[in-house]
Amino acid sequence: MLDKKTLEKFNQEHLVEFEKLMSTNEKEQLSEKIDTLNLAEIEKLYNDLYVNKKMIDDVSSVNEVKYDVKASLSDEDIEKYESIGLDAIRQGKFAVLLMAGGQGTRLGYKGPKGSFEIEDVSLFEIQAKQLLALKEQTGQFVDWYIMTSKINDKETQLFFESKNYFGYDKEHVHFFIQDNIVALSEEGKLVLDTDGNILETPNGNGGVFKSLEKAGYLKEMTDSGVSYVFLNNIDNVLVKVLDPLFAGYTYHNDMDVTTKSIQPKHGESVGRLVNTNHKDTVLEYSELEPEIANEFNNANIGVHSFKLSFINDVVDNALPYHLAIKKLKQLDDDFGVIEQPTLKFELFYFDIFQYAHSFTTLQVPREEEFSPLKNKEGKDSVETATADLKRMKMI
Ligand code: UD1
Repeated sequence: MLDKKTLEKFNQEHLVEFEKLMSTNEKEQLSEKIDTLNLAEIEKLYNDLYVNKKMIDDVSSVNEVKYDVKASLSDEDIEKYESIGLDAIRQGKFAVLLMAGGQGTRLGYKGPKGSFEIEDVSLFEIQAKQLLALKEQTGQFVDWYIMTSKINDKETQLFFESKNYFGYDKEHVHFFIQDNIVALSEEGKLVLDTDGNILETPNGNGGVFKSLEKAGYLKEMTDSGVSYVFLNNIDNVLVKVLDPLFAGYTYHNDMDVTTKSIQPKHGESVGRLVNTNHKDTVLEYSELEPEIANEFNNANIGVHSFKLSFINDVVDNALPYHLAIKKLKQLDDDFGVIEQPTLKFELFYFDIFQYAHSFTTLQVPREEEFSPLKNKEGKDSVETATADLKRMKMI
């Protein structure tokens, strides 16, 4: 039985009405689940992030980051970095971490986003092929850590099996699952998913380091002599996965955080990489007034290398939640299925930057390295991704 008093205290008494419509089994499950939730914390998240939502509008102490521009590197520098990078990869100094736990709601595709195919080539395959090419070049299978979430883990792993790991060595592909967090209605109420369980969604990509630790993979990397973790998103079809130039740039500079950026377009939906209080950080586009966003020259494309010792040092430090509002399927008061705007709480991986002491950024040409597949149509869509892959002769 649900405890009505406690629920009332936290504005969740509607669950008692839901309970009345449930079987004994369902009631038990609901009550067990509620016992695991910290209702006070959930209420605080709702108030802090939704009721008192603030956009970032004061950037008076925010500056441009220090950055190098790839196009301005000399031929000697490029050669030097590539050679350092290849050596480091050969010596097993790098691991690759792919974040693929997102829901890809904007694309409107049911399966894991990585299994989305463009002319029969999936996003996973685009990335796997590059790691295979790197193996040919260095003799080294780089360990590939792939973060999934409860909603897509099984399907992702089955997809890899069915494609025979795209010819990569199965022993060097490691999956791990990120955590979920409850979603709320715009009134701050817990809601039920279409199976009658409390609706939860993946807790954002910022859980990546903790989940990696929980799975035992930070230890595994450390024990096997890895020094840097290369991180990237699933949906950039032009991503260069651990390209030797960036690996060498990382290794040579030896910073806690090394980032690739591009010059953003006016009004583009990308985070802006900036420096504030001597730390590089990303101001996310969803929290930034567009006029302010346009003042900065470096956009986040979700490509970084992190020093492993840095991750190990700060993995248990707290990160803040951010708010996203997405249309999600759920049950209404009469247990009918509806789809409505719902509050999702997300951690962002780049909030870990606040704990770093050293940063460097390499700005790369957009036309060679960034074409995200976010939407069904229009900007950053299947059409633009297909055209860019063809232009770069990747399909
Ligand atoms: C992200 C960046 C943004 C950047 C843009 C470039 C974040 C928070 N923001 O925005 O600064 O300019 O990419 O394309 O990263 N993911 C998970 N689990 C989750 C949520 C997301 O693994 O719970 C993964 C996705 O699968 C994807 C990556 O994180 O690989 C980025 O997530 P996405 O939702 O696509 O972020 P954007 O809003 O596009």
